[in-house]
Amino acid sequence: MTTNWNDRLTVVQSEITTLDVDAIVNAANNSLLGGGGVDGAIHRAAGPGLLEECRTLGGCATGDAKITQGYNLRARWVIHTVGPIWAGGNDGEEYLLKSCYRRCFELVEEHNLRSVAFPAISAGVFGYPMEQAARVAVTESQRFLQENGSVEQVVLVCFNDRAYDSYTAAVREALEDP
Ligand code: AR6
Repeated sequence: MTTNWNDRLTVVQSEITTLDVDAIVNAANNSLLGGGGVDGAIHRAAGPGLLEECRTLGGCATGDAKITQGYNLRARWVIHTVGPIWAGGNDGEEYLLKSCYRRCFELVEEHNLRSVAFPAISAGVFGYPMEQAARVAVTESQRFLQENGSVEQVVLVCFNDRAYDSYTAAVREALEDP
């Protein structure tokens, strides 16, 4: 069992739908019936079976997560989570964003998954500042990897240079304060 969290955390600049991991995380909305951004990309790549299964789930609360199959994706599973809409930072946004990561990691454990990839939940349409969203993503991944020895890879997926800079800065910060 490896205990070195940072050996099992990867930051990549990529399109999340192409990744060969056990599960990719979708930054969805409360309906779980699709949308724009990464949600739209995942539904397009997975095919109509994903929407059909999502229709049976009865939506998802903000800060919670639900799991479906991956259909035409390389990933066998999709974990759908609903991040908070940024409203200035004093409306429980950080608590809810942390809760998204924790609920996703709970599902990873329950399903014995070895690898999972996250987009920058809430940091697009939902307006969460990228630097702060990256810090939550990295600290929650660090906490999980320090507690769980069987997950081999947590991938934090950045869609552009600005996201990549924020994520790598957050990892550097976490390494200085391990
Ligand atoms: N691969 C990886 N990252 C991506 C991709 C992709 N294909 N596409 C976008 N991103 P967003 P949110 C990045 O807006 O803020 C939807 O309509 C993007 O650059 O997808 O949680 C849902 O239905 C950004 O950094 O999610 C909800 O209504 C990050 O993914 C709402 O948007 C998240 O951006 C959720 O908003």
